[in-house]
Amino acid sequence: MAVSYKDLGFVNTKDMFKKAFEGGYAIPAYNFNNMEQIQSIVTACGKSNSPVIMQVSSGARKYANSTLLRYMAQGAVQMAREAGHDIPIALHLDHGDTLELCISCIESGFSSVMIDGSHHDYEKNVELTSKVVEYAHKYDVTVEGELGVLAGIEDDVVAAKSIYTQPEQVEDFVKKTGVDSLAISIGTSHGAFKFKPEQCTKNEEGVLVPPPLRFDILEEIEKRIPGFPIVLHGSSSVLPEYVDVINNHGGKLNAAIGIPSEQLRRAAKSAVCKINIDSDGRLVMTALVRKVFADSPAEFDPRKYLGPAREELVKMMIDKNENVLGSAGKA
Ligand code: G3H
Ligand code: 13P
Ligand code: ZN
Repeated sequence: MAVSYKDLGFVNTKDMFKKAFEGGYAIPAYNFNNMEQIQSIVTACGKSNSPVIMQVSSGARKYANSTLLRYMAQGAVQMAREAGHDIPIALHLDHGDTLELCISCIESGFSSVMIDGSHHDYEKNVELTSKVVEYAHKYDVTVEGELGVLAGIEDDVVAAKSIYTQPEQVEDFVKKTGVDSLAISIGTSHGAFKFKPEQCTKNEEGVLVPPPLRFDILEEIEKRIPGFPIVLHGSSSVLPEYVDVINNHGGKLNAAIGIPSEQLRRAAKSAVCKINIDSDGRLVMTALVRKVFADSPAEFDPRKYLGPAREELVKMMIDKNENVLGSAGKA
């Protein structure tokens, strides 16, 4: 039976993005697949009084079971309210690839969907995105489209090289499709290996510094669609402190490099209203689970290794909200 997100306590992204744009900060969009991740999102955003977008990929839906996942998300809103956190929460489909998937999510209570037509040619992207917008807007669900291709894995599609968004296309795309926000490609990419070491320079401490994001392209886009909410995917910093814990406890993540926090802070102050973070959460969980196993090899109660991972995830998200995205205190 179809259910409206409004009855589940979610909000769409319209008001969130308007306030984020005016206030010069970005809304965190954290991916989740399981209970500990959703608990961390609610606790961290509740404690830091931040609006939040909880997002689910089609892979996450398959992994967790789409029905269970919807009830988990609904439970998360209740959990926040019972803890006294009156923060706006959106439930968003990350990288939707078909109209059918978007419809299914909307019918099961999502307040926002992404239709990622970026791998199609421009005309097909416009056509597919327009169809999703036409359906979603009937139910007051907001839609994110994408122009330009990010390197790395976007669900099942792997792109070897990023193709930057062409500013000349954005005005036409937004006008023709009616999307509510636009994901762009300016040098971020998905996963934990965003740059090859040879693409980076070394600072005085010998730390590898990746090439800066293409803020010139972002500015050009802002000029063409003033006031329009922009989304950044692939925005994990691949936090070195967690990569080190992983590598020092039996892991092997060679040359894991992400987007420096200062770059994201700068983006959050611009028209970028939503910043997607998945890989940093994965790294935190892996680091803590590896550490518990290395320190306590006799441990076999999942609560004893997932519990510390959950706690650390809360810390990492609070830090992002407060010091990177600037969304803390904005609920
Ligand atoms: O953009 C991709 C997100 O990190 C989701 O990844 O498709 O493995 O769930 P996933
Ligand atoms: P990261 O892999 O950088 O966390 O990006 C996640 C993302 O863009 C989800 O859509
Ligand atoms: Zn993404």
